[in-house]
Amino acid sequence: MPDAVSWLNSQLQNPGPVSNFAITIDGKAIGGVGLEFRHDVYRKTALIGYWLSEDFWGQGIMPQAVKLMTDYALANLDLICIQAGVLSANPKSMRVLEKAGYEKQGVLRKCIIKRGEVMDEHVYAAFKA
Ligand SMILES: CC(C)(COP(=O)(O)OP(=O)(O)OC[C@H]1O[C@@H](n2cnc3c(N)ncnc32)[C@H](O)[C@@H]1OP(=O)(O)O)[C@@H](O)C(=O)NCCC(=O)NCCS
Repeated sequence: MPDAVSWLNSQLQNPGPVSNFAITIDGKAIGGVGLEFRHDVYRKTALIGYWLSEDFWGQGIMPQAVKLMTDYALANLDLICIQAGVLSANPKSMRVLEKAGYEKQGVLRKCIIKRGEVMDEHVYAAFKA
């Protein structure tokens, strides 16, 4: 909880464009989708991240949210590309990105370690038309 409060406060004080959104049903937050901006040669490529409460999985909510966020960001922010990195153990998230119109750029082999397990990262991207 302290981490969540601290993150929310940091967002409220962020002077930049709105880049993190809650996904709500009847005013109750059930998930989130947001962008992380990068620097230097990657300054026009942002990373997208997302999560959904388990009670709402499998209803096609996140592909819609990712598509909305991507269209909003590419139309309104000074970006040429939105990227997502997905662990090899998360095919559901890869499917979300495919349904949201992303293409797979490649696989970065054995670059992640999570709970002692070495994994690949699948990199997806959507581009400004
Ligand atoms: C990943 C997550 C966002 C999915 O959201 P969602 O709204 O439930 O997504 P969908 O309703 O589109 O369902 C997932 C899709 O993956 C498919 N899928 C499920 N398990 C799968 C598997 N093991 N392999 C391949 N596809 C799978 C489903 O069939 C569905 O596709 P379909 O509509 O073509 O049948 C949600 O599970 C979540 O928040 N997970 C925890 C956080 C997370 O992983 N975030 C992403 C980090 S990169």
